[in-house]
Amino acid sequence: PETIVVQELANRMAERAADVVKSLMKMGVMATMNQSIDADTAELVIEEFGHKMVRVSDADVEQVIEQVADDPQDLQPRPPIVTIMGHVDHGKTSLLDAIRKANVVSGEAGGITQHIGAYQVTTESGAVLSFLDTPGHAAFTSMRARGANVTDIVVLVVAADDSVMPQTIEAINHARAAKVPMIVAINKCDKPAADANKVRTELLQHEVVVEAMSGDVQDVEVSAVTGAGLDQLLEAIALQAEILELQANPDRSAMGAVIEAQLDVGRGPVATVLVQNGTLRQGDIFVVGEQWGKVRALQNDQGERVKEAGPSVPVEVLGLNGTPEAGDVLNVVDTEAQAREIAEYRQEAAKDKRAAAGAATTLEQLMAKA
Ligand code: GTP
Ligand code: MG
Repeated sequence: PETIVVQELANRMAERAADVVKSLMKMGVMATMNQSIDADTAELVIEEFGHKMVRVSDADVEQVIEQVADDPQDLQPRPPIVTIMGHVDHGKTSLLDAIRKANVVSGEAGGITQHIGAYQVTTESGAVLSFLDTPGHAAFTSMRARGANVTDIVVLVVAADDSVMPQTIEAINHARAAKVPMIVAINKCDKPAADANKVRTELLQHEVVVEAMSGDVQDVEVSAVTGAGLDQLLEAIALQAEILELQANPDRSAMGAVIEAQLDVGRGPVATVLVQNGTLRQGDIFVVGEQWGKVRALQNDQGERVKEAGPSVPVEVLGLNGTPEAGDVLNVVDTEAQAREIAEYRQEAAKDKRAAAGAATTLEQLMAKA
C-alpha cells in the first residue's frame, strides 16, 4: 500500500508539518511528522487543506495518463503507420525517397540512414500514409521493448539482385513478433541481375508466402531508381490499411511516441513525435518518458509550422524541459504540476532501477569470483 511521510506531505502542500499533525489528530490519527500515513488518509488531509490530490505512484501515473477507452462513435479512420525494413543497402531509404520524390539519400553521410525520419505521403487515389524510415532493426526492437508499438504495416524491402539476407529474416521475425502485416517490395528490379522469383522462392523457405505464390502476402516489383511499381506499392499499402480498419479519436488529448529526439543548440530539446491517438496542440502540457513540457511550437514533416497534429501525424515538438529517448511515450495531461510530478517520479524510479541493476551486477561479479 502507498504511504507518505507526514513531513513530506506537508512540504508538498506547502503547509506546516505541525498543522498537518493537528489536522490528523482531529481525524483521530495519531502520527508524528516523521511517521507515514496511508494514501487514503493523506487524501482526506489534502482535502481538509483545500488542495487537490494528485497521487503519483506506478499505478497512479497510469491512471492519470491512462488511455481512456474511446467511445466507438468517436472513432474516425486514421492513416496507417508504415515502417520500411530490410537488409542493409537493399534500398529502404532510396525507396522512401522515391516515394516522397525528394532526395534524402544524397544528404546523408555515405548514404547510410543517420536517424529515423517520419513522413506523410498522399497516394494518387487520395490515401494518406505515414512512413517511418528506420536506421536498423535494433531501433525497432528497442522501441517495441519500450512499449511503443508504432507500426501498423511493415514494408519488407528485398533487393532482387541479392535476395533474402540475414537482416531480411530478422525483419520478418520482427514483423511477426509485433503481429504486424507485411508487404514485400522486391526492389532493384531495373538491374540486369534482378531475379524476383528467386526472392519469392527464398521467402517461401521462411514461411512468407506471397500472392504470386498463391499466398496472402502482397508482393510488388519495384525500382527506387526508375520509379517502376511505386504506385502499385502505395496502393498495396492503402489496400492493406483498409483491411486493418485503423481508427483513432482525434477529439481526445494526445498520446504518441517519440521517433527521435535531440538537443538543438538554438531551439533546445526537440522531439519528433508520432501522434497515435488524439490531437496534439500548441500549448498542450505533456509528459514524455522522464521529461515534461508545454508545446511551444509544432512543425510538420515539410518543416512548416502547424497549430495541431492529429492521429498518425508525425510532428516536431518544441517546448520540452529535457531530451526524451526514442520510444518514449508522450501523454498530454491537465496541469504543469501533474506533468512535473509524473516526470520526477519516473526519474526517481529510473534512478532506483539503475541502482538495483548496479547492485545486481556487483553481486553477480562477487558470485563469479567465489
Ligand atoms: P541502409 O540504410 O544503409 O541500410 O541502406 P538502404 O536499405 O536504405 O539502401 P539505400 O537506399 O541507401 O540504397 C543502397 C544503394 O542501392 C544505393 O547506392 C542506391 O542508389 C542503390 N539502389 C537503391 N534502390 C535501387 C534500385 O531500385 N535500383 C538500383 N539500380 N539501385 C538501387
Ligand atoms: Mg537507409
